Amino acid sequence: MILRFSALTLVFASAAVAASAPTFHKDIEPILQNRCQGCHRPGEAAPMSLLSYKEARPWAKAIRGAVLSGKMPPWHADPHYGKFSNDLSLAPGEKETLVAWVDSGAPEGDPVNAPKPRSFVDGWSIPKPDMIFEMPEEFAVPASGTVNYQYFTVPTGFTEDKWVETVEVRPGDRSVVHHAIVMVDSGDGWRGQEYLAGYAPGMTPQFWKPGQARLIKAGSCLVFQMHYTASGKASKDRTRIGLIFARRPVKEQIVAMQAAAHWLSIPPGAPGYRVEASTTMHETVQLVGMRAHMHLRGKSFVFRAVYPTGETETLLDIPRYDFEWQPYYYLQTPKLLPRGTRIECAAVYDNSPNNPHNPDPEATVSWGPQSWDEMMIGWFDVAMAVRKPLARRSFDRTSPDRP
Ligand code: HEC
Repeated sequence: MILRFSALTLVFASAAVAASAPTFHKDIEPILQNRCQGCHRPGEAAPMSLLSYKEARPWAKAIRGAVLSGKMPPWHADPHYGKFSNDLSLAPGEKETLVAWVDSGAPEGDPVNAPKPRSFVDGWSIPKPDMIFEMPEEFAVPASGTVNYQYFTVPTGFTEDKWVETVEVRPGDRSVVHHAIVMVDSGDGWRGQEYLAGYAPGMTPQFWKPGQARLIKAGSCLVFQMHYTASGKASKDRTRIGLIFARRPVKEQIVAMQAAAHWLSIPPGAPGYRVEASTTMHETVQLVGMRAHMHLRGKSFVFRAVYPTGETETLLDIPRYDFEWQPYYYLQTPKLLPRGTRIECAAVYDNSPNNPHNPDPEATVSWGPQSWDEMMIGWFDVAMAVRKPLARRSFDRTSPDRP
């Protein structure tokens, strides 16, 4: 009698769970659309597609593990500092929903409840570009060995100044493109080559707010700086850049700035070697985004502002830097940097044998382009009122303040 009774309770209990369990179409698909499919669809950075139930179901266990460990979605900024418009983190409750779905057997549910599929432009993560430039020829990447930086110059043919609102750099073969930076060479002396956009693992395309844009002057050339790494398989790459021109009047010009420590020298075996660099604003600007760049020994990176009042503020803290993920962190609300503000960057490197990515703990490491060399660059984009020509001394491009 007792036995029958408890069996009944069990049946009721599992029926109750099934009724409240999240299902794919109703609860999971919207999360995947918003947080995952940007990368998890054919042709993008992630190794598998999460567009449909059929594609996602085999990954249920892996999804559970990846969201619980915080590996996915990839986002490395300490949430205590700054709010970012391209934050990939899950919203409160989303992680629990994903886990509960997997724990209840990853049910599909009724397709009637599915959200409308998200639409993507094939081959780009930005809307359809107005103009596409590509490397003038394919570059053959050997199966092994070191490939020096390659430079490819492409004339824009622009007969007037152009404002670009959105930019994306697309590698031809992601398995061999370590990073790509596209610079604008306007041919006018002191400005030299100016950063336009880049691709590195985890980097999302450049989006600015309405009314903001980067300037490409008439007659400029685009210079592709390509860093290839051999993957074990010979390959060919032809990287492209897609531009969307400003549709609205441009009020603010986006300028790429940096604080960089070209003099760095990291002693052998050092587990937490700190390197600092700073750049001072010579006019009032709005900070719109930041990006940290180090190589394999990079451990953490912090951006701080030291205001003319002496007050300081942490703008971005990446406590566990990951070489595989170097996104731009775009501020939700631009930050005013009054004239005289100093942007200070502090990087920490792990050159000890405890760093599993360390190519050589015995080496004294200095600045250089290869992964076994190091770099220390705090990139940041600022917006300033459009005023041509840009004053030469509006800012220091590289740090004058050697520690
Ligand atoms: C910015 C791009 C990006 C976003 C957004 C993203 N992923 Fe990924 N994901 C990747 C890449 C690249 C890999 C393969 C490299 C790796 O494992 O680090 C990956 C790997 C994975 C894996 C395999 C992990 C493993 O341990 O092998 C899972 C599972 C996964 N992602 C789930 C998700 C889920 C779920 C979301 C959304 C909640 C998500 N990802 C969002 C890029 C992304």
